[in-house]
Amino acid sequence: MINRRSLITSALATGAAGALLPGHALADAVAEATGASFPDGFLWGAATAAHQVEGNNLNADLWVIENVPNTIFAERSGDATNSFDLWPVDLDLVKSMGLNTYRFSLEWARIEPDKGHFSRAMLDHYKAMIEGCRARGLKPVVTFNHFTTPRWFAAQGGWHNPESPLLFARFCDRAAKHLASGIALALTLNEPNLAGLIGEILPPQLLAGDRATQEAAAKQLGVPKYSPGVALYVPEAKTYRANMMEAHRRGVAAIKAVRSDLEVGVSLALLDDQAVGKNSIRDRMRERYYGEWLRLAAETCDFIGVQNYERKIWDDKGSLPPPAGARLNTAGAEVWAGSLAGAVRYAWEATKLPVYVTEHGVNSDDDALRQWLIPAALADLKRVMDEGVPVRGYIHWSLIDNFEWGFGYRYRFGLHSFDRETFKRTAKPSARVLGAIARRNAV
Ligand code: BGC
Repeated sequence: MINRRSLITSALATGAAGALLPGHALADAVAEATGASFPDGFLWGAATAAHQVEGNNLNADLWVIENVPNTIFAERSGDATNSFDLWPVDLDLVKSMGLNTYRFSLEWARIEPDKGHFSRAMLDHYKAMIEGCRARGLKPVVTFNHFTTPRWFAAQGGWHNPESPLLFARFCDRAAKHLASGIALALTLNEPNLAGLIGEILPPQLLAGDRATQEAAAKQLGVPKYSPGVALYVPEAKTYRANMMEAHRRGVAAIKAVRSDLEVGVSLALLDDQAVGKNSIRDRMRERYYGEWLRLAAETCDFIGVQNYERKIWDDKGSLPPPAGARLNTAGAEVWAGSLAGAVRYAWEATKLPVYVTEHGVNSDDDALRQWLIPAALADLKRVMDEGVPVRGYIHWSLIDNFEWGFGYRYRFGLHSFDRETFKRTAKPSARVLGAIARRNAV
């Protein structure tokens, strides 16, 4: 099961508390409006990532991993939400909710299906999406790489390959030349701060399972090493991380060389880490999981993308279990509305960069939890903004239930559900809650 952040948080969690979900479907968050207005031009959006929604992403690294015998993936991505075809429907959903922004990612494996061979048709596909956003008055926030890399890239060692930063920069250059003029905000990599760090805290059998899956893929393709862009098992973490950092640097430079006024950032996975008691290890954990990426972002980016789902309370030994009565997500982790504001404040203090929330949401089948979380988290976010933290936008994960990596379709973060046979999308009540806030530009 591969989901880096959930695995980190559940691996760190010690124990569990009883679930006390809200117990009532919130009639409408509008009723709880506090009237706190967001700045003019604030971005209100929903997010997806290519591999999680497009479907039939045959040339991506994970397609091999998902389909080898005894894979640790719960199921294959398959058709996903068929958004490769249905992207206009998805854009209509974003628009009809009342949002002004859509975050999505480019699929490197489609744009460069073979090393050095770029597909104009696929670049045109993403161009049509960008133009489709513009035609609907939506700002396209584009992630150049959201975890998956091309199969050929993984077969050459993935981010272990010394050539990988240059390969990524070349991809960014080609994509930017075709697409940059219409993009509102660009992100290089998604949550690279967690890459290669998960192995150290996971149960050994999980790591062994991921290793065996990668080895089976390598064998199938007849290569010595097959290293996908999202992995638990990373044999040489130091090299892998260093190459991703260099890839980011060169990616920013490549995009800026095409369009110097395009704002470029990176999205980082940040918990709201809280310290309790004497000698809390909180600061040590922050340094371990975010330190070098926050410094690199401060040096290279125009903004920082914050992706937050949870808080973690650290004492001198480790993290504490969720407090009694905490609301819990499907994975059993605490859902605490203040965590977004806490993570955003920390990102700002550490980088002094303007912040876009590029992901925030909840893994739950109970949409009442989402309906409660959105206005509650936004009210707290507004409070830190009032204290001077420059937040420029809020993008919810996700527009639609989708392929949640190693967990398959079991974990659901969507503002919309979809039918796996017909691909018909249905708005959940939380879509109306977020839409009402966006339309008013106020919580
Ligand atoms: C990732 C998404 C993922 C989401 C929910 C983030 O880690 O960027 O791809 O689906 O969180 O787990």
